[in-house]
Amino acid sequence: MPRVLRKPSRHLPFGDRRETPYYGRDILSVSQFRRADLATIFSVAHEMREMVERVGSFDLLKGKILANLFYEPSTRTMASFTAAMERLGGSVIPISEVHYSSVAKGESLPDTVRTLECYADVIVLRHPQIGAAAEAARYARKPIINAGDGVGEHPTQALLDLFTIVEEMGGVDGLTVTLIGDLRYGRTVHSLARLLAMHDVSMRFVSPPLLRLPDALRDELRAAGAKFQEHEKLDEVLGLSDVLYVTRVQKERFEDPAAYEAVKDSYVIDSELMRGARNDCIVMHPLPRVGEIAMEFDADPRAAYFRQMEYGMFVRMALLALVLGKA
Ligand code: ASP
Ligand code: CP
Repeated sequence: MPRVLRKPSRHLPFGDRRETPYYGRDILSVSQFRRADLATIFSVAHEMREMVERVGSFDLLKGKILANLFYEPSTRTMASFTAAMERLGGSVIPISEVHYSSVAKGESLPDTVRTLECYADVIVLRHPQIGAAAEAARYARKPIINAGDGVGEHPTQALLDLFTIVEEMGGVDGLTVTLIGDLRYGRTVHSLARLLAMHDVSMRFVSPPLLRLPDALRDELRAAGAKFQEHEKLDEVLGLSDVLYVTRVQKERFEDPAAYEAVKDSYVIDSELMRGARNDCIVMHPLPRVGEIAMEFDADPRAAYFRQMEYGMFVRMALLALVLGKA
């Protein structure tokens, strides 16, 4: 009989396998997590931060290999997964230019992941189609980590966003979190809103009418009992927000360039505008920014977006250690 390697059942929610709840599991959507999982991930991320600050890198994942498979552009996600793996002593197969891989010859996603898992222990996948990571996970024996599936989700970004809020604000419950910009196509918003809905948070969604939350997500948040309101004007909520989560209008998702032009500059955060915000709030952005936050604001201590990127590496170190069974 040929030897068949299998993942632990990946259809159960994360916390359901008490013996090894994270080992070998895919990370496809934030919906697979419960609050207890978030606490575990953040406590490991916190330890990773301390270790990096103390020793820089260490050998927890020595000999393990990660494949970065990116069908869409990325700077942060790809670089931080690479840095995370290398700081843990592992190594990385980088496939960021899929047109130089056999994808250009017409190789399918299932075959591509089944190829890479012959060489790697975990695959990080970014793809333009919603559901692509779930499809890859149906074929792969090794864990698939969703690094963005079209307008679907970006779960590891949302985890690092929430970790940023915890580290900067001391917790999540009781806060007013305002999400601004492209709520329709922004996958980071789709994932973060779901995580925030697990907490006692007041969410304010600010967007032009064209870029409001997808109906299905609005219904899901309502069904989860989340507290939220939708607005078109930022000044209605600026002064009451603890966290301002600013996003880029996702140009690549628009079919009509004129529609993009009409909404692209709907909100711009600058020092003048931020005089109306709380002194103890933070401004976050998944980045890249293309004009939604003026560079002059970067020196303001409330500008948390560069710190947010750094937290991202610690969270990704924690996730890699957990799915590879070393945390
Ligand atoms: N980098 C994030 C993403 O890939 C946000 C963005 O591109 O605007 O979803
Ligand atoms: N935040 C984020 O996903 O950035 P990249 O698109 O550069 O990876």
